[in-house]
Amino acid sequence: MKVIITENYEEMSSRAFGILRAVVTENPHAVLGLATGSTPLGLYELMARDHRAGGVSYRDVKTVNLDEYVGLGANDAQSYARFMRENLFRFLDVDLKNTHIPNGKAEQREGECARYDALLRSLPRDLQILGIGSNGHIAFNEPGTPFSSTTHVVDLAESTIRDNSRLFSCEEEVPRSAFTMGLKSIMEAKHIVILASGENKSRAVRALVEGDVNESLPASILRTHPDCTLIADRAAASLLKEEAS
Ligand code: PGA
Repeated sequence: MKVIITENYEEMSSRAFGILRAVVTENPHAVLGLATGSTPLGLYELMARDHRAGGVSYRDVKTVNLDEYVGLGANDAQSYARFMRENLFRFLDVDLKNTHIPNGKAEQREGECARYDALLRSLPRDLQILGIGSNGHIAFNEPGTPFSSTTHVVDLAESTIRDNSRLFSCEEEVPRSAFTMGLKSIMEAKHIVILASGENKSRAVRALVEGDVNESLPASILRTHPDCTLIADRAAASLLKEEAS
């Protein structure tokens, strides 16, 4: 895993944008794996700004998202489908028909997981963007998730519910379960960029870079990927040995 440490969040976002831009420029039909959360917002702003200024076109790009809360639909204010439309897709020329996310409202959960896995098989990702949870999760793959996992429904960890409650009016409103792409599927992307910003990610980043590869830290599987880049700002990287010296 390549590690890039940046001065701040803005530089983290612009390094990530540089990689994404190169992927889409080389292949205008690229499939992008996208993430929600606070971390990629700076990257999404740069994509929007660049596109508005006549830069990269996403007309032929396809996107697949990592996860969605169970029970929330595309028009629910807190759904990830809505998050993606409001924070990214509406600023780009991407065809919404080419943007994919698990259907949080699906009545048959197993059927929805199978549908999403089939979709992922048909859309191999050229680039996967990831954030990291303070407990080392990626997407909603919480500690203990098998590395062999495909799309599944998870009960969210208490720490995840707490972390995400800032986006809801209170902690009780945070859904308790979610559909998530599994770790095996995430690993199938040709290139992976994992972003980390802020001190509350520093333990997870240390464990990712310096700890063992095992299922108690889901993100650690990325160390076995042939082309994965961690971009962490100074605060997120503050517990790394190299940083301390
Ligand atoms: P965040 O979430 O970007 O909102 O910090 C990251 C994650 O939980 O994967």
